Amino acid sequence: ESYDLGGHDTYMHKEIAEQPEAVDRVLRGRIDDRFATVHLGGLGLDAREARAVRRVKILGCGSAYYSGQIGAQLIEELARIPADAEPASEFRYRNPVVDPDALYIAVSQSGETYDTLAAVQELKRKGAKVLGVVNVVGSAIARETDGGMYVHAGPEVCVVSTKCFTNTAVAFALLALYLGRVRDLSVADGRRIVDGLRRLPEQIQQVLDGEAAIAEAAREFASARSAMFVGRVRGYPVAREAAQKLKEVSYVHAEAYPASELKHGPLALIEPEVPTVAVVPDDELLEKNRATLEEIKARKGRIVAVAHREQERADRTIVVPKNEPELDPVLMGVPLQLLAYHTALELGRDIDKPRNLAKSVTVE
Ligand code: G6P
Repeated sequence: ESYDLGGHDTYMHKEIAEQPEAVDRVLRGRIDDRFATVHLGGLGLDAREARAVRRVKILGCGSAYYSGQIGAQLIEELARIPADAEPASEFRYRNPVVDPDALYIAVSQSGETYDTLAAVQELKRKGAKVLGVVNVVGSAIARETDGGMYVHAGPEVCVVSTKCFTNTAVAFALLALYLGRVRDLSVADGRRIVDGLRRLPEQIQQVLDGEAAIAEAAREFASARSAMFVGRVRGYPVAREAAQKLKEVSYVHAEAYPASELKHGPLALIEPEVPTVAVVPDDELLEKNRATLEEIKARKGRIVAVAHREQERADRTIVVPKNEPELDPVLMGVPLQLLAYHTALELGRDIDKPRNLAKSVTVE
């Protein structure tokens, strides 16, 4: 991949379009079909050490933090190790209890974000084991950590992260699969995830092919006063990242909430001028999510659903292909990148360089 725009109007659009190849790269050479697992030599974590991990704590900033939230859920689901993500800056300022049996993971596109690097240094000073999930090879965080994995997204120029976010989520799926297969994840489940991972590049391309309909949906967001993004469990970090993306690049105010929390506050904001994006995978929470759509509709809120099939309560459904449920966050995030992009385009924003933001914040 080069720095040439290659016919795209912006790096954001180019980088969104590059995702099928980027995901192919993060998978390449890592899958072990025989044992339905993956090889992640850079982790420096053999099976015995991997089995000894009692807890996983993921640290990052901005989109890296949200991808870490997806990662924590994948690790809990596939490896059944308690895991959570926290903004690196919050972590380092609250004098955290450092657990010697925990595995700490720093996530960063640039590998240079000061808050994340400082968290790594504090952890190392306290004797913790820290791995990096990083895009830029040889960056500060890659060097400071005890090992890790590169996400191989290729150069990302646009300030807002797209392909690196997706690749990081896929990298976490690989890590979760590895941790799962040295523990209790069955060969059959391992194989199911491996097959699902292999389908991703083509399915991402299918989502990208639906760009025209997403561009149409974006018109409504360009004239919105504010937008609400909701999702449950796997859908929640997707909603958070999508809301962040819309804010960063279009300057339209957006708020992300767990769908289950809507009735505890933000439902008061719902009205026709405040559209909602609902992440509605076809999983065990589908009925609960449908009830949320009803609640929004009852307040005359307009809804764009990202789902595996048409949602009748929604004004518009962006249908994404079905994969394995654990991998839903990867595919469901992609159309929402395009939604943010087209909203910003409609509003004539400086898409690759949003005001007040920097690609990598290397100061405190
Ligand atoms: C900045 C960027 C964000 C990015 C964050 C973390 O705030 O504007 O888009 O997610 O830094 O960057 P990193 O390079 O550590 O992933």
